[in-house]
Amino acid sequence: MAASIKKVSPASARAHTRKKKQGSSLSLPPGMFKMISLVVLVGLAAWFYKVIQPPAPAICGTPNGPPVTSSRIKLRDGRHLAYMEAGVPKAKAAHKIIYIHGFASCKHDLLPVSPDLAEELGIYLVAFDRAGYGESDPDPKKSVKSTALDIEELADQLSLGPKFYVTGFSMGGELTWGCLKYISHRLAGAALIAPVGNYWWPGFPANVSKEAYSMQLAPDKWAVGVAHYAPWLTYWWNTQTLFPSSSVIAKRIEIFSDADLKVLSKFQGRPYTAYVTQQGLFETLHRDMIVGFGSWEFDPLDLDDPFPGKEGLVHLWHGTEDWIVPVILSQYVSQKHPWIKYHEVPGAGHLFPLADGMADAIVKALVQGKN
Ligand SMILES: *[C@@H]1O[C@H](CO)[C@@H](O)[C@H](O)[C@H]1NC(C)=O
Repeated sequence: MAASIKKVSPASARAHTRKKKQGSSLSLPPGMFKMISLVVLVGLAAWFYKVIQPPAPAICGTPNGPPVTSSRIKLRDGRHLAYMEAGVPKAKAAHKIIYIHGFASCKHDLLPVSPDLAEELGIYLVAFDRAGYGESDPDPKKSVKSTALDIEELADQLSLGPKFYVTGFSMGGELTWGCLKYISHRLAGAALIAPVGNYWWPGFPANVSKEAYSMQLAPDKWAVGVAHYAPWLTYWWNTQTLFPSSSVIAKRIEIFSDADLKVLSKFQGRPYTAYVTQQGLFETLHRDMIVGFGSWEFDPLDLDDPFPGKEGLVHLWHGTEDWIVPVILSQYVSQKHPWIKYHEVPGAGHLFPLADGMADAIVKALVQGKN
């Protein structure tokens, strides 16, 4: 070891010091310094840009993707939409209902309507995987409007006739507003079940959106804030491990009320959990957050009655013990829109449609409940 230590003579050490001193006393030309900073900055930006890019989705039916096992239709832009039917055959049906699933869910989460009720009232149900979920192709242009148009196309390709019902749960409830806005002429009625509210709809008074926002856990405040203000950072934010990301994605137990804990096993124990996001997290969960909490091109709080001639009715259901979507949002919405039939369910949590009898009650009110 000692042999490898270079002997430094006092003279050369002095020369070295002198050189160093000279070097430090010579300042870099200002242009040079700017140049180096720029190179470092560009390098960092390029690295960061790469890190925040979501990976490409694994599209169903492609060599790198999962297999196609569902019935699917081909949409206007070539995307496939997977669907699943239930209830009575549509040829026999008196009422046709399209179900819009929530966040981190899929067509298999269709409202569990009992066969007896379906038979008694002649109810046909169809659920579809929203773009990017399950076996439906991702839609990089996904929006509230594109989802409504997917629904209209599904109805037409399945020949559901001029009118059908829509019902959406949670984030699917939020997307139901898009149906009321863009395809209300096709609707026989609608039910919004524990619908997510967007804190950035301008029609919410500041105190209502602030209070609802503050009821979320800190990680969710951040997650929805990032989705709204920096959508390009959503993938990174929700996959990094430095800061806690969405507790809804993480399904942290604190977000469930006692009422939810009673039915939670029905939700957590779903055998198709892997199917939901099999094409990737970005085109499912992250894009949902970007669409749901983005800046909308219309404000549901400004919407006029989509059924001015009483040709249909809009139902809004919300549980008072919902810790995931605060009930005060639906309370305000129903107060603002007297044409909404509001059903507040005392003691119910967010997952109440899974509680015994609830799905039947919701569907019964939908198809029979003309005011
Ligand atoms: C918001 O303010 C209005 C008017 O002051 C009040 O009536 C309402 O109860 C408040 N809502 C909430 C959720 O704080």
